[in-house]
Formats: sequence, structure tokens, C-alpha cells
Amino acid sequence: MCGIVGYVGKDKCIPRILSGLESLEYRGYDSAGIAYVVNNLVKITKKQGRISNLKENINIDEESYVGIGHTRWATHGKPCQVNSHPHRVGKVTIVHNGIIENYETLKNELSDYDFVSETDSEVVAALVDKLYKEEKDVKHVLAKLKDYLIGSYALGILIEGDDKIYAIRKDSPLIIGVSENGNFIASDVPAILEYTNLYYLILNNEFAVLSKDDVVIYDENGQISTKNLLTFEGSREAAMKNGYEHYMLKEIYEQPKVIMDTIKEYISDVDTLKEKMNGLEKYEEIDIVGCGSAYHVGLVGKSLIEKYGHIRVNVDIASEYRYSDHIYKDNHLVLVISQSGETADTLAVLRKAKEDGIDTLAIVNVVGSSIAREADKVLYIKAGVEIAVATTKAYSCQLIMLSMIAMYLGINSGRLDESIFEEYKSLDKLINDILDDTSDTESVAAMIYKNKDVFYLGRKIDYAICMESSLKLKEVSYLHSEAYAAGELKHGTISLIESGTPVISIITEDDIRLKTLSNVKEVCARGALSIVITNEEVLDKDVYDKLILVPKLHDLVGSILVVIKCQLIAYYVAKLNGCDIDKPRNLAKSVTVE
Ligand code: G6P
Repeated sequence: MCGIVGYVGKDKCIPRILSGLESLEYRGYDSAGIAYVVNNLVKITKKQGRISNLKENINIDEESYVGIGHTRWATHGKPCQVNSHPHRVGKVTIVHNGIIENYETLKNELSDYDFVSETDSEVVAALVDKLYKEEKDVKHVLAKLKDYLIGSYALGILIEGDDKIYAIRKDSPLIIGVSENGNFIASDVPAILEYTNLYYLILNNEFAVLSKDDVVIYDENGQISTKNLLTFEGSREAAMKNGYEHYMLKEIYEQPKVIMDTIKEYISDVDTLKEKMNGLEKYEEIDIVGCGSAYHVGLVGKSLIEKYGHIRVNVDIASEYRYSDHIYKDNHLVLVISQSGETADTLAVLRKAKEDGIDTLAIVNVVGSSIAREADKVLYIKAGVEIAVATTKAYSCQLIMLSMIAMYLGINSGRLDESIFEEYKSLDKLINDILDDTSDTESVAAMIYKNKDVFYLGRKIDYAICMESSLKLKEVSYLHSEAYAAGELKHGTISLIESGTPVISIITEDDIRLKTLSNVKEVCARGALSIVITNEEVLDKDVYDKLILVPKLHDLVGSILVVIKCQLIAYYVAKLNGCDIDKPRNLAKSVTVE
């Protein structure tokens, strides 16, 4: 939800800020802008649309050595020039990521100012300007800001006549990068990797003052805080496209590696598994909560944990769960799932559960993210940096993590034994086989890409996989699609099936194989274009126009192969439709607003 970046140092700032913004574009791409200091004056260039548009309209060689930039995902006010960041009020220029919930009240209180935009962010600029006039010292202003602002914010601030960058955060991510030639602020580490992999994590209400050769970080009381300098483990190359046409495709092809990295971390031997998962067996009930794909993967987790762990699991969408009433058991666990570790609704669920005294566990990808820091316990997946807005490799790693939790609970209760480890060990080879030959998924894409609606059918785990597959198709290709529990379609929605409507059915579980096949027959009888993805030859040739076969594996891991087939279908449909695959319209990867 918006990306911010800033640089102050010995080198020209505009190229550095542009390159940082480009790697943050996944956070929003409605407009982009940079404020930069030339001869002690702050100049602003901002443009509606992509960063490429800003790049064409800014002088990259400008003699400026301090500046802040922003890429926007519109919340308050439509995407247009005047609502674009940076916003300047008086002596203060800011870039903001987050949402100021009390901005209307503040706007009324700041009635001496003329506001030109519809944004909540411009109000923050006015507030900082007013407080700066009173306090005369930006550090005092930053220490006070939390008393005025309700909501979330990561701010980069320039003051006219000053050659420093000021930065503060609350509930929106912010890091400070340091290098020999200068210092950075950024919403996420990839923004600085071209220049440095050394960074500080800034916590809520902490603030920082950056000059060309110094970074000073203050705690929420305005006292200097000593922090550990962190080193980002991944390479910059890992965050680049590496010759792939799109990040989404690159990330699909990284799955054999990152899934195995995640597996090896937890099941190198049974002692490691027991050490990492120790204590999970004590829970009587688990609530799994997440947003988007993280919610969908929770549904797979429910099936596996209930089957092998015999623990009741409820799965909910974070934005619903946070406002619902809960009846907790004595031994109750809230398990939140989030790739970014910053999703606002998921973070709110975690905090509420902690307030209610419930144990919390998080499955997270981004090390040191808010959810990772605040959960009682974290199980990290090893997906690496994920850039494409539509998640692929993080989803698969989350699925494998839930599978390993179910496996641990199964071993612990004697329902499984250690020989089950073998099922995980050859997954990379099997996934590579799928990735080596994409002719089947490409031909399915060619069969369906011109249609208006696509339906996915499945039962149990297959249904959960259908939900994720349908979301993937919608978000990247803009084809309308619905996932249905196979037995439910006839209770209304089958009325939408007409001659040629594509129906993709997923059938991997033996106990419901024949049941789902009967439902496939029902749609075929209505003229559907039937695509069946399954792990066993289907004898009745009348139930499909196209069959995709995957190897038959243990149900703890088997759905991974189907997921990857569906990711590829979504990708190729989007490609045939000429969509902006890595940055689908209206979306952002990291949703740090409610
Ligand atoms: C956004 C992304 C989805 C993602 C969801 C949850 O909507 O577009 O791909 O599943 O957020 O994100 P999280 O970082 O919490 O997993």
C-alpha cells in the first residue's frame, strides 16, 4: 500500500530514488513522485501513472543529493496529479504510506491551511508544519506526532532549508539503509539492495534523522536508541527478473527450490521437527486467520490438521474475524498467516488475540515484519523476496508449512510415523517435471482465455485449491471466475453453465473421486467445456475435453502439484489477454490498510 524511499548522500539522489521506487512498485502504482533539494530549495516532480511516466518527466542528472519519493496505491482521493505524493505544506514536504483515520478532525483543526488535495497525507504535512513552527525542532515534532495521529503511517519528511531526511513509522513498514556513500529510508529492503544490504528496522513510534554520513534513531520518548545493524540475507539478483518475462513466472519456477528450503529447515530430522513445532499438540482448537491467498491456504491446513492432528480448526478471513465474537477453548491457538507480515487486518487479529490472552503463532515470509515480531511464536517459510502482486511461491511454502504442522501432529499422536518424511523429499523433482513441460497448461489457457466466466469445482482440499486457483485467474487475467464446492453448484449456480462455459474440476482425493466426477457429468450435460485436473486416469472420456494428469502423492503434499498447474493456467491466460501480469489493475501486494 504505497512505497516510500529516500536518499541522502554523496551521490545524486534522483537515480537512487527512482531505482528504489521501481522495486517498490508492487506496493501501488497509481502515481509516483519525488521531492528533492536543489540549492536549499525543495522541488517536486510527480506524475499520475507508473514510475516509468515519472522517469520520462524528471531530470535524472539534477544536482540534488537529498530527496524522498513515493509510489501510490490510492486510498483517500482518486489517482490524479494533485493527490499524488510528495505533498508540500509551508516548509514541510512529506511522503506517506498508511492511513490517517482522524484526518477529517485534524483538517478542521488546521483550518488556517488551504488544502489542495483530497488526501489524508496532506493533512499530516500541515500538522508537521504547524508543530514545527511551534517547536522549532523537527525531533520534538516527531516525538509528539503519536499524540495527534490516529491510524498508520510511515513518513519521509524534508524541511525547507535543511539537508536531512526525517522519518517515522507507526503500523506501516519502514527500514533505514546505510552505505558508505549515503543513507536510505524505504518501505522494504529490495528498494536499497542495488546500493547496500545493511539496514536498521524501525519499530512503532521510533523515528530517525538521516544526514549524508550519519543515521540517528530515536525511541518513542525522543531518546537516542542503539540498534543492531542487520544484513539482508538474500541477493539482489534474487529480487530481479533473471531473464524471465515476468516476476510471476520467475516465482512459479522458483518453487522447487523454495519449497525444499522450507522443508529442509523443519524436517532435516525428526528432532528438528519436534523442536520447531513443540507444544502445538496441546491445543484443543485452532483458529487460522489470513487474507486472500493466506486465507485460502488456511482452508487446506484445516483439512490436513483435522485429519492428521485430530484438532478442530476454524478458518476465517482476517477482516471478518477481527470484528467477530469468539468463543475460546482453554487451550486455544490463533494461527495467523501472512507472506508480508504487514497486512493490516491480519496484524489486528494477532493483536486482539494477544489482548484476549490467547496464544498466537504466525506463518510469515518476511523476517522481522510486524506480525513476525509480535506473534508469540513464528514459523518462517523460506520463499525469498516475492515481487509479483499475485502470490505463487509464498502460497506454496505456506501450504507446505501447514502440511508439516499436520504431519508433526500426526507423528505426535501416532497416526503417522517418520517414514512420511520420504513424501517430502522428492517434491522438487516432481515440481520440476511439471515446470519442464507446460504444453498442457498452455493449451488449457488457449481454450479458455476468450471466455467471460470460468468455474472451478472440487471437494474438500480440492475445493480449497479451487478457491486459490480461481483467485489467481481473476487477479492476473481479469476473467471472471468462481470456485464452487462440487456438490453445491446445483443449488443455484449451475444456471450459469451454458454451452462452452469452461469448468475446471480438481479431483485428487480417493474418497470423493466418484462424487466429484458425478458433478462434472452434470456440467458436461449442460454443455460445459470440461477440463479435469486429477491424479488418476479417468476412464469415462465423456467427462472431459481436456485432462491434465499429475502424479499421485500422499494427500499431505499432493495438492502442491495441482496448485502449480493452476498457477500456470492463470499466468498463460493473462499473457494471452495481454494483461499487466506482475501489477494487475487496482491491486497492491502489501495491504497495510483496513
Ligand atoms: C494481497 C495480495 C494477496 C495476498 C494478500 C495477503 O491482497 O495481493 O496475494 O494473499 O494480500 O497478504 P499477506 O502478505 O498477508 O500474505
